[in-house]
Amino acid sequence: MLVVGASGALGTLIAERLAERGARLVLHGRDPARLGASAGAATVAVDLTEADAPETIVDRAVEALGGLDAIVVAAGVVGFDGVAETAGRDLETMFTVNALAPMRIISVALPSLRDSAAEGNEPVVLTISGIVSELPTAGLASYSASKAALAAYVAAAGRELRRSGIRLVDARPGHTETGLADRPLFGTAPRFPHGHDPANVADRLVRAIEDGSTSLPPDAFTGA
Ligand SMILES: NC(=O)c1ccc[n+]([C@@H]2O[C@H](COP(=O)([O-])OP(=O)(O)OC[C@H]3O[C@@H](n4cnc5c(N)ncnc54)[C@H](OP(=O)(O)O)[C@@H]3O)[C@@H](O)[C@H]2O)c1
Repeated sequence: MLVVGASGALGTLIAERLAERGARLVLHGRDPARLGASAGAATVAVDLTEADAPETIVDRAVEALGGLDAIVVAAGVVGFDGVAETAGRDLETMFTVNALAPMRIISVALPSLRDSAAEGNEPVVLTISGIVSELPTAGLASYSASKAALAAYVAAAGRELRRSGIRLVDARPGHTETGLADRPLFGTAPRFPHGHDPANVADRLVRAIEDGSTSLPPDAFTGA
C-alpha cells in the first residue's frame, strides 16, 4: 500500500493502523525524518508541487512493493481567504497538492491497479476531500474549490473504473483536531467548534478500505 502524506497527522495514524494489520507500506512525505512511523516501510520524500512527483511516488511504490493494490492520499493543505484576497494567494500550490497531484497519482497508478485486479485482488484508492467538498464554506472558498475538484474526480473515476474491479472511495469528514488549521498555506483560521478525534477518524478511514465502501460522506463520521 502507498500512503501519500504519511508524515501528516491522519496519514501517520492510517499508516500505523495499516502496519498493525500487516500491510506492506510505502510512505510518502516531504521530510524523510518524519516518515519513520512504520518499521520496515519504504519511503519516498517528494514535494507534490514538483512536476514529476506523481510518477516518482508511484514508481517508487511499485518498485518497493512489486506492484500496487492500494493507495491512500492523506496529503493536503488548507488556506483561509476572503474573496478579496483570493487573487493574491498561492492557489497553484493549493490546487496542486489538494487536487492535481492526487488526480495524477491515480492516473499514473492505473496500470498497476489494473494488474492487481487482474491478479484477483480488489485494488482500492482512498482520498480525503473533507466536508467542504459537499458544503463549500465561507472564508474557505479556495480550499473548498480544490477539495470539490478532488471529490468530483474521484466520484467520476470511481464510476469509470468500477467495472475494472478498482474501487475509489472519497472521505468527507468534518473538522478534525489534527492541527491542520494551524498550519495554513495562507490566511488565518477562524475559531472552529471542537472537531473529530483524529484517532477515530483514522479508524473509520481504515475500516472503509476494508469494508467495500465507495463513499464516506460527513455523516459516516458522526460520533468520531
Ligand atoms: N484535519 C481536518 O480537519 C481535515 C478535515 C477533512 C479533510 N482533511 C484532509 O485530510 C488530509 C490530511 O489532513 P491532516 O489533518 O492530517 O493534515 P496534516 O497533518 O497537516 O497533514 C498534511 C499532509 O500533507 C502533506 N503535504 C502538504 N503539502 C505538501 C506538499 N507540497 N508536498 C507533499 N506533501 C505535502 C504534509 O507533508 P509535510 O509533513 O511535509 O508537511 C502532510 O503529510 C488533508 O488532505 C486534509 O485536507 C482534514
